[in-house]
Amino acid sequence: MHIALLRQKFLEFFAASNYKVLPAASLLPQNDPSVLFTTAGMQQFKPFYAEPSSAPSPQVATVQPVIRTSDIAEVGDDTHLTSFEMLGNFRFGQKSSLTMKREAIAEAWRFMTEILQIEEDRMYVTVFGGDKTTPADTESEGVWRSLGVSDIRQEGRADNFWGPTGDEGPCGPNTEIYVDGVEVWNLVFNQYFRDRDGNFTPLENAGLDTGSGLERLAATLAGKNSVWEIEPFAGWVSHTDPSKVRESRIIIDHLRAIIFLIASGVLPGNKGREYILRRLIRKAVFLASQLNRGFDWDIAVFHIHAFYSPVYELTNKDDILEVILAEKQQFDRNLNRARLYLEKWLKNHSDVDEKAITELAFYMYESFGFPKELVIEYLAGLGWKINNDHFNELFTKHQAVSRSGLERQFKGGLADHEPQTIRHHTAHHLLLAALQEVLGKDVVQKGSNVTSERLRIDFNFDRKLTEHELEKIETIVNQKIAEDLPVLGEEMGRDEALKSGAQAEFGAKYGSKVTVYTIGDFSKELCGGPHVQRTGELGKFKILKEEASSQGVRRIKARLN
Ligand code: ALA
Repeated sequence: MHIALLRQKFLEFFAASNYKVLPAASLLPQNDPSVLFTTAGMQQFKPFYAEPSSAPSPQVATVQPVIRTSDIAEVGDDTHLTSFEMLGNFRFGQKSSLTMKREAIAEAWRFMTEILQIEEDRMYVTVFGGDKTTPADTESEGVWRSLGVSDIRQEGRADNFWGPTGDEGPCGPNTEIYVDGVEVWNLVFNQYFRDRDGNFTPLENAGLDTGSGLERLAATLAGKNSVWEIEPFAGWVSHTDPSKVRESRIIIDHLRAIIFLIASGVLPGNKGREYILRRLIRKAVFLASQLNRGFDWDIAVFHIHAFYSPVYELTNKDDILEVILAEKQQFDRNLNRARLYLEKWLKNHSDVDEKAITELAFYMYESFGFPKELVIEYLAGLGWKINNDHFNELFTKHQAVSRSGLERQFKGGLADHEPQTIRHHTAHHLLLAALQEVLGKDVVQKGSNVTSERLRIDFNFDRKLTEHELEKIETIVNQKIAEDLPVLGEEMGRDEALKSGAQAEFGAKYGSKVTVYTIGDFSKELCGGPHVQRTGELGKFKILKEEASSQGVRRIKARLN
């Protein structure tokens, strides 16, 4: 059955069973800041479980595209996807949980056995077996028995207690239907409300939240074990690279999520949803670079777009392609730099232990924009493994440093953490020290702004700089770059840092703990980072412009080539 027909049959059946059919919600939830994406059909209905009177109807049904990054490690197998469509029917404000279960389970069973005509002996069901916090769902078990189902398996919380999404919300025991050993239907009975502290309170009225992955169900109906054998995926792997099944699957899975995300208004970036999109694109780009046949993004985007645009409102395919290709271009550059860096690194490290590999991995993550799982994959390709604990330790430290860096961004700090921006940032420190060497120690920074295009510094000085001074400043910075000085960050107390003579931006506010970055013994500044590891990574420094910024303040713009 084509998935378009399956969608239609699902909605027709539930409309006939007194459910109001509603449109899908955005992939970006409007009512819940604690989640990045719509991960389930119930997301848009979350408030109605506690407040059923505000629901548009006590019973609703939808087909909802969702994004789930929680299963991302499994994508590439037969059944897991980053984005998929969920068939769902929902009930709010149900007076009796038993009546609701009787009706909802019977509906699901009728849909499976009568509408889809799945043979009963291909199926078994699971119910929540109970634990210390929540009793077993004996009601559901009884309902299944009354329908003549005998293969009922009791499972624990991990599989048979669902929700909430985000920090808090409705949740409850669930019962699942398996066909040929694959879970295809999930009925959640929202009988509890879990708060932020993890306390469960029974809801006054019960609710129903059903979910069925459209692609999985379609594959099952086609007698296939794998979602890759149905449209829009069928034939994909043989078209891309049959010798790289997992890679080909991940690329198309990610591409579909990418298209839906861009169509929802997300653009690649460094935070939250934007970062997830960036990771998906970079991973797909990276894996595509591993294929033996090359990869045609234009055709791939066209294929997915053509399949979904009759059903969902998607951005124009050329605009989507442009976003992907721009991000690809940026990442390709990073990949090349990373490869060169790795070659050099290998020359300098004869015996590589796990610690060194992990530090290398972290550096690649931090400086070249490699998502973590990509670094791991890349290094695994070379036969190396990283130490997860050590990596996480480095990550936590990095986060603390970036957070203190955030404070400075309000003063016009880094635009992003692109490698070129980071290089400009280190050059900025060299420039300040060079200004002080040429113009005198009284020069302090009054403002700054660093992007991948250029760096800008504002500093106190009461006249235009001469050609000769500018040349001298440029020469000093280039000399420090040629000396390949180490750049080191160290956390310390603010007062101690200031006493040690570290430069601080005039008028900026700092917390009690700060990071001090030194470049050889040439520069010492309070700063949130990030920076390159050695000045040799910077390239050639060039001053673009010197001008007045305000009374007594000069401004220099410069860049690295
Ligand atoms: N919300 C439930 C799920 O996603 C139905 O499985």
